[in-house]
Amino acid sequence: MKHKILVIGSGAREHAIVRALDQSTQEKTIYCFASNMNPGIADLCDELTVGSINDPDFVVNYAQEVAATLAIIGPENPLENGVADALWKTGVKTVGPKKDLAQLETSKAFTRNLLREYDIPGDPQYQTFDSLEGVADFLEELEENYVVKYDGLMGGKGVKVSGDHLHSHDEALAYCQELVDGGGEFVIEKKLVGEEFSLMSFCDGDTLKHMPAVQDHKRAYEGDTGPNTGGMGTYSDANHSLPFLQESDITAAHAINISTAKALKDKFGEGYKGILYGGFIATSNEVKLIEYNARFGDPEAMNVLPLLESDFIEICLAVADGTLENVDVQFQRKATVCKYAVPDGYPDSPVKGKPIDISRVSNPDGLFYASVDIQNGQLVEAGSRTVAVVGMASSITEAEAAAEKEISAVKGPLFHRKDIGTNEVIQKRVDHMNSLQ
Ligand code: GLY
Repeated sequence: MKHKILVIGSGAREHAIVRALDQSTQEKTIYCFASNMNPGIADLCDELTVGSINDPDFVVNYAQEVAATLAIIGPENPLENGVADALWKTGVKTVGPKKDLAQLETSKAFTRNLLREYDIPGDPQYQTFDSLEGVADFLEELEENYVVKYDGLMGGKGVKVSGDHLHSHDEALAYCQELVDGGGEFVIEKKLVGEEFSLMSFCDGDTLKHMPAVQDHKRAYEGDTGPNTGGMGTYSDANHSLPFLQESDITAAHAINISTAKALKDKFGEGYKGILYGGFIATSNEVKLIEYNARFGDPEAMNVLPLLESDFIEICLAVADGTLENVDVQFQRKATVCKYAVPDGYPDSPVKGKPIDISRVSNPDGLFYASVDIQNGQLVEAGSRTVAVVGMASSITEAEAAAEKEISAVKGPLFHRKDIGTNEVIQKRVDHMNSLQ
């Protein structure tokens, strides 16, 4: 049987998804419903169509036009808008949770309350609010260690942390007031101290198959300084753990993902079918959950999908069909380092429309296009994270050297973080973790 697979989204994460699909030996036709013209995806797909990926009607129309049998939703906004619900309704098997289940990412309060209700470890001390009532008292209780999170999608900009973005209770109250004025609910929680890691699992509603752990770097500049971004780069280790983690940390993260999937099924009477992406933090004594995402991480997808030894189409079908238990999901025992090149001025005032040259990149299979466009036959940067490269080797050190060489070969008004994956930064993480124990 020839699979007709529709990928929704067109960043580097979706490029990694399409590449993993392309590597499957199964007979397939791949389509992409995209928000921008991604030449890397276009090369691998039978057709790339730019359209309104967040609008369920547009997505369903396109899925019907190409007679898609399987859809994979890349970003979170289509999930929030019920694209998975609409696709399932028209008979398209879909990897990506329905709207209710995607609340795991779209509502911070939903997730905190779910863990509390089902007695799942991972919540810090927290309270939810829809007005300023009680906020000052709770801040008093948390003293100088608090995080204020807008209860919805805000492209990573809704989270403000004491010490980083908020420097006094007055500033915190002013931010809360801003959220109340905008009609928004919010969560205040105790700030967690430790080392963060991403642990993603394929989930068919009942069974989970876990991916290697990855560490992301959110800050724009070297030394973890500067504004927050979507993620400047990531690394994973050959043993599928991370140098600063114990085996028990990975086990704890797996257990939280498993319990969360079970809780969702109990709550909604139907299972979560997609990628369950836990953003965890290893603290001095236990693993806590920072947040959930309902999709592959970006850049994390570029670390793990190239390592996948098993057939990605088989996994996606099993996620949708609820038969993941019968599928062996294996990843190569190699380390990876992913680095993004971003426009000068990113993220606050990025250069746009300027040509970039990728002709000196030596391994095109390790190059992933993101926010790019083609203007007058020329590849240009479109204003957000532009291209990513992945180095893969038997150690993080070698993978970092490979990634650094490749990303430096991308020319244009761009910058990247040279420090991601270096021995120095990794040692800093290990020392930080040791200092907490
Ligand atoms: N790596 C962060 C994210 O995908 O949201």
